[in-house]
Amino acid sequence: MNGTDQLLANNRAWRDRMERERPDFFRSLALQQNPRFLWIGCADSRVPANQITGLDPGQVFVHRNVANLVVHTDLNCLAVLDYAVNVLGVQDIIVCGHYACGGVTAALQPGSGRVVDHWIRHVRDIARFYRLELERLPDAAARVRRLCELNVAVQVVHVRESPVLQAAAGRSVRVHGWIYDVADGLLRDLAPEIQALRAFEPSHRL
Ligand code: CO
Repeated sequence: MNGTDQLLANNRAWRDRMERERPDFFRSLALQQNPRFLWIGCADSRVPANQITGLDPGQVFVHRNVANLVVHTDLNCLAVLDYAVNVLGVQDIIVCGHYACGGVTAALQPGSGRVVDHWIRHVRDIARFYRLELERLPDAAARVRRLCELNVAVQVVHVRESPVLQAAAGRSVRVHGWIYDVADGLLRDLAPEIQALRAFEPSHRL
């Protein structure tokens, strides 16, 4: 069986098991999706939102891109955000980065001349903004780890400052920043780091 045929076989086996264990599962999902969470994560194959959070299909609305960025002009991400908040009514938005992120690592290295460099430029800007803090760290590995955290914190600010969230201010949509360690499978809440960055939010500068 070749690679993709195996996936189709896996799917059938999974479907059959779900039908046995939870006979109404697909019938109820067919009627509507009602996710409580929006996940904005990295496209990295090691960070699958549902699997690492123990959520079933239907429980989390997912947007993923290289380095889990929320760029003010990215219509794709903004459309997801708008739909999740204003149509699906999600209560919690989770921006999740991860250590050993290839996009973040690339942002601390010379450009490769590839299209992805344009996207990574957003992370380079963060590295430049926090250059003094990053330069104080002992080695390149520590700088990548810290930039992974800073990147999440900055993207959380971008979500909070987005017109979608500003317009939904009265509906208490919570925005969280988490980081996932691909080396041990654990998620960590970056709330303290994000709190420390609040002074940089545009609304606080005005
Ligand atoms: Co990544």
